[in-house]
Amino acid sequence: MRPANLKTRIFLDGGNPDDTKDIIRLLGFLDGQTTNPTLISKNPDLRERIERGEKFTGKEILGFYRQVVRKISALIPEGSVSVEVYADRSTRAEEMQEQGEEMFSWIPNAHIKFPSAMEGLRAAEQAVKRGLRINMTLCFTQEQAAAVHAATRGAKKGDVFVSPFIGRLDDRGENGMDLIYNIIKMYEKGEGHVEVLTASVRNIDHLLYALKLGSDIISSPFDILKQWADQGLPIPGDNYVYDSKNLKRIPYREIDLYQKWQDYDIRHELTDQGMDRFSADWNALIKK
Ligand code: E4P
Repeated sequence: MRPANLKTRIFLDGGNPDDTKDIIRLLGFLDGQTTNPTLISKNPDLRERIERGEKFTGKEILGFYRQVVRKISALIPEGSVSVEVYADRSTRAEEMQEQGEEMFSWIPNAHIKFPSAMEGLRAAEQAVKRGLRINMTLCFTQEQAAAVHAATRGAKKGDVFVSPFIGRLDDRGENGMDLIYNIIKMYEKGEGHVEVLTASVRNIDHLLYALKLGSDIISSPFDILKQWADQGLPIPGDNYVYDSKNLKRIPYREIDLYQKWQDYDIRHELTDQGMDRFSADWNALIKK
C-alpha cells in the first residue's frame, strides 16, 4: 500500500511488462514507468527472439516497442508511461516531433522523451504547443533544466518532466544527487510547470535521498524498488543524511529561468554519449 506520507510519485524504470506486474504486487501501487531504447532492447521476449536468430526491420522493432508500451499502459492506466524517440546526434527536431506524435497516439497515458539537447528542446517546444506530454531525458546540468523550463513555458503542470541522470554523474565521480537538489531549488523561482523526475537511480540511497529532497517523481530499476519494498517502504525523516562518499560536489548556480531557451549553455558530453548509446542499442536490433 502507498505510504500515507509519500508525496513523490514512484515509477519503474524498465522495458518488461512482467516486471511492472511484479512491482505493483510488491509495492501495492505504481505511479508510472519509464522506458528507453536500451531498456526495450533488453526485454526478455525480444532477447529470446534475437537469440533464435530472428531479425527485425525498423518498422517491426517499433511495433514491438508499441506492444510493450501498450501492455505496460494497461497495467497502470492511471499512471504515466514514458516512451522515447530515436535520436542520434544528427536527428532533427522535425523527425523527433513526428516520431513523438506517433508514439503519443499509441497509448492514452504517454509522456514522450526527447533528449535535453538543442534539437530535442526544439522538438519539445513544438510538442507542448501541440498538446503532447513530454519527458526531457539525458539532463546533466542545471542549465539544461533551465532551458527545459524556458522552452515549455505555458504547459500545464504534469505535462512536462525533466529527467536528471544521477547515476551517470556518480559513475564519473560527480555527486549526481546535488543536481536534484540544485534543480529543485532553482525551480522554486519558476512557474511550477516542470516536474523533476530523478532518473538513472543506482542504489536505495539515491531513492531515499530523492524522497527526502521532494523530487516530484523517482524512476527506479526493479531491484531497487524491490529492496525498498522489502524494507517496508521507508520514507526518510529529518535526521536522514545522504552519504555522498567521496563524490565531487556540484555547486548550485544562480540561473535566471526567464531567458530564451536557446541562450542557455545546454551542451553536455554525457547527453551526446547518452544519445550515442541509446541509438546504438536500437540500431543493433535492426537487420542491415
Ligand atoms: C529513465 O528515464 C532513464 O532512461 C534511465 O533511468 C537511465 O538509467 P541508466 O543511466 O542506468 O541507463
